[in-house]
Amino acid sequence: MRIQGFARWRIGAAALGTVALLATPAGGATASPGQGATASPGHGASGIDPSTRANVTAAMHGEAFAHAEYRAYAAQAARERLPDVRALFDRTAAVELGEHFAEQAELIGLVGDNAANLRAAIAGESYEATTMYRRFAAQAEADGDLEAARLFTEISGDEARHRRDFVRALKAVSDPSSGATVPGGMIVEAVSIPAGRPEVSSPRTLRNLRSAMRGEAFAHAAYTLYAERARATGRPDLAVLFDRTARVELTEHFAEEATLAGLVRGTRSNLCEAIAGETREGDRMYPSYARRAAAAGDTTAAELLTEIAHDELGHARAFTAALSALGGRCPASR
Ligand SMILES: [Fe+2]
Ligand SMILES: [Fe+2]
Ligand SMILES: [Fe+2]
Repeated sequence: MRIQGFARWRIGAAALGTVALLATPAGGATASPGQGATASPGHGASGIDPSTRANVTAAMHGEAFAHAEYRAYAAQAARERLPDVRALFDRTAAVELGEHFAEQAELIGLVGDNAANLRAAIAGESYEATTMYRRFAAQAEADGDLEAARLFTEISGDEARHRRDFVRALKAVSDPSSGATVPGGMIVEAVSIPAGRPEVSSPRTLRNLRSAMRGEAFAHAAYTLYAERARATGRPDLAVLFDRTARVELTEHFAEEATLAGLVRGTRSNLCEAIAGETREGDRMYPSYARRAAAAGDTTAAELLTEIAHDELGHARAFTAALSALGGRCPASR
């Protein structure tokens, strides 16, 4: 089931009436659009066991994060004048989003009709604006990480604006006679992520930054699919709003958080990080999710998860070859 890019991505849940609920995953503070989509007891509306749905949702956060991270690593490789490595990171980033994220989104019915997608987006933005980022800002301030506190507060304000835009768009979509129109959304300049160490002192701030980055990367990925859905259903205005908001999440929010978190290092180090992540996913995470899906009777899910595990090990090999070509080696502790 190989799907090339979003253009050929099929809408999985148009008829499911899936409603996204806010959910806070264990140990994390991230609630993203579409997380915790409702399912009836046992196999839910899309015929997937709740345990499989939870694992796939967690895996999709990893895919969205890998896409965002590899784009940042590609930019660093370009700064170091390593065009082959840049191309490898860009290609791999495209697979994580356009294939792995999109295929799993289809599996769990992440995308509904335009109104359902807007409701999911509103729920995610509300949580981020009123709960998550405010808590992160207060914690960062208490820990003396004032720059992070300032950033969390600023992003909280942006998320409130996103929420308002989506609420207006929902009115326009669901009640055309109201005269409401879909807002144009925010347009931002992309922020680059320089190589460097974390700029925060507290481990809690660093954890919160990583958690927030996963939420931003997931929101970017989900909104990109929602935009595709809007375009395919004759709502180019809504597609523009989702695409512009997706860009804010990735090229501003994720990028600013990644800078403070020290996400990007030199290219050799970035390759080691990527190899470790791909190996972890390909050797352990996806095979374990596949086994559990098979045990729950989700055969199609088990096959997809097994196929993705295979892909991730291929990514690990390609990154290892790129590192060897640079004469680099990863520390043994990885
Ligand atoms: Fe992947
Ligand atoms: Fe947002
Ligand atoms: Fe955001």
